[in-house]
Amino acid sequence: MSGSQGKSMAVIGAGTMGRGIAQVFAQSGYEVYMHDTVPAAMESAAGQIEKLLKRAVDKGKMSADDAAATQRRIHTVPNLSNIGRHPLIVEAVIENPDVKVELLGSIQSMVTDDGILATNTSSISITQLAAATDRPDRFIGMHFFNPVPVMKLVEVVRGLQTSDETVKRTIALAESVGKSPVECNDHPGFVANRVLMPMINEAIFALQEGVARAEAIDDIMKLGMNHPMGPLALADLIGLDVCLDILQVLHRDLGEDRYRPCPLLRKMVQARRLGRKTKQGFYCYE
Ligand code: 3HC
Repeated sequence: MSGSQGKSMAVIGAGTMGRGIAQVFAQSGYEVYMHDTVPAAMESAAGQIEKLLKRAVDKGKMSADDAAATQRRIHTVPNLSNIGRHPLIVEAVIENPDVKVELLGSIQSMVTDDGILATNTSSISITQLAAATDRPDRFIGMHFFNPVPVMKLVEVVRGLQTSDETVKRTIALAESVGKSPVECNDHPGFVANRVLMPMINEAIFALQEGVARAEAIDDIMKLGMNHPMGPLALADLIGLDVCLDILQVLHRDLGEDRYRPCPLLRKMVQARRLGRKTKQGFYCYE
C-alpha cells in the first residue's frame, strides 16, 4: 500500500477536519490514505465525502467521472502500520497534546526521507509537537478551516526549528490543492483562533448575560459585520469542545483574563451539547 508512485499523502484522523483534508487532496489528484482508530469514523467520513461529491455533481460543479475518480483515490486503512510511506502526512486527531505526541512518535517513520510531517492542530504549540519527532526541521503546522472543502485558507505555522525549505514546500503543497496558504509563527492560537475565539467567547458571555437571544446575537453580527454566519452558529459548526480547548490554551499560555472561557461554554460542553456534531449546541440540528 505504498504511495510512492505519483502523488500521495496520508491523513491520520477521519473527524470533521481529517475527512475534509482527505477530500481536497483526493480532488486534486493525490492518492489519499486515511486512518482513524475508530472504524466507524472512517465509514462515516467515506459516506460524507460521497454525499458532498454527489452534491457537486448534481449542481454541475464536477463531472460524475471526476467524482468517481476522487472517491477511488481515497483509501481507508484500518491498521495504521499499513498506511505506507508518503511525502506528506497530515495529523488531524483529537486536540490533546499527549495523544498527538504519542501518534507523531509512531508515524514519523512513515514519512519519506525528505517528506513533511504536518499537524492540523488549531492551538497546540508546533514547537512542542515537533520535539516529539526526530525531524523538527521538517515538521510544520498546516491549519485548515472548517468546512475544509470550501474555506480557502491554510495557516502555515512555522515552529522554532521548522526549516525555510519546509515552509516553502508546504506553501506549494497547499497551493497544489487550490488553497491560499498564509504563513505565521508559533504563538498560542496562531493568528486565526487568537482573533476569532475571543469574539465567539464574548458572544457566549452576551448570551449568558441576557443581552439578546442567540438568534439576535447572530443576526446582529451577520447583518452588521457582513459575517457569513453569526458567532454562535459558527461555534456550533466548529464544535463547542474545540472552542473550549482553544480558549483554555489561549488563557493558560497568554496568561490574560480576557481569554477566560465563558462559564456557559463550559456548561454546554459538560452537557455534551457540542454543536452540529451532537445535533445540539446553541441551536438544534435535528
Ligand atoms: N462541507 C463541505 N461543503 C460545504 C459544507 C460542508 N460542511 N457546508 C457548506 N458547504 C458548501 C456547499 O455545498 C456550497 O457549495 P457550492 O457553492 O459549491 O454549492 C457552499 O459551501 C455554500 O453552502 P450553502 O449555500 O449551503 O451555505 P452558505 O452560503 O451559508 O455557506 C458556509 C456555508 C460556507 C459554512 C458559510 O456560512 C461560511 O463561510 N461560514 C463561516 C465559516 C468559517 O468561518 N469557518 C472557519 C471556522 S474556524 C476554523 O475552522 C479553525 C478551527 O481551528 C477552529
